[in-house]
Amino acid sequence: MRKKIVAGNWKMNKDLAETQALISDLKKSLPATDAEVKIAPTFTSLYAAFQALKDSPIEVVAQNMHQEANGAYTGEISASMIKSVGVNSVILGHSERRAYFGEDDALLAKKVDTAIENEMEVIFCFGEELDDRKSGNHFKLVESQLKNALFHLKADAWKNIILAYEPVWAIGTGETASPEQAQEMHEFIRKTIAENYNQDLADSISILYGGSVKPANAEEIFSKPDVDGGLIGGASLKAEDFIGIVKAI
Ligand code: PGA
Repeated sequence: MRKKIVAGNWKMNKDLAETQALISDLKKSLPATDAEVKIAPTFTSLYAAFQALKDSPIEVVAQNMHQEANGAYTGEISASMIKSVGVNSVILGHSERRAYFGEDDALLAKKVDTAIENEMEVIFCFGEELDDRKSGNHFKLVESQLKNALFHLKADAWKNIILAYEPVWAIGTGETASPEQAQEMHEFIRKTIAENYNQDLADSISILYGGSVKPANAEEIFSKPDVDGGLIGGASLKAEDFIGIVKAI
């Protein structure tokens, strides 16, 4: 059985004190669940978050990572630096990284390789823009994003991969893909993995949906057979909302 996962992407929100306060609230109200629950605070809070969650099932994830091991890359953070503060998981390919920081599929393929070499878990994000969907190009686009960044991986490396389908038009906009649109795309993603690898591998991969997930719509989205959880932005910044979404899975 593949894992159910609810992950909170805090983006560039919450300083150290705010991180500690939100973690304390999450720890108090986390329900018993079979799902993996993860949060991705900003780099400067990762160590404190890891320390604060040592005795909790909530896992800590980094939001980004450089592809090189070390060197003259001012302002960047490497895989080993992230691992050195206890964190073993990283979000790669988020649409904001692609749009504002020029991260393309070729760069993301390198980042994925570096994460795998370092035995890290990767939450790999991808998804189409509104124009792609309007022109009916969304399946092709998603297939090319997967092919260019992930399909060079050996089958064995996929045990480290979690996919997060995030249609760009639904991120932070309040507009969610309908549960049917999410299911349709997740089914397509699983089929594409099966064609490039095999059905067993495709069935083992958790595919999260991301884009304006809230307590009010989470249950319906999570009820779809190929939706294995969510990557949550805005609604992960309030303990009550995030816990509401965890309860929906
Ligand atoms: P949102 O963001 O939930 O605020 O739409 C999701 C994401 O960017 O991962």
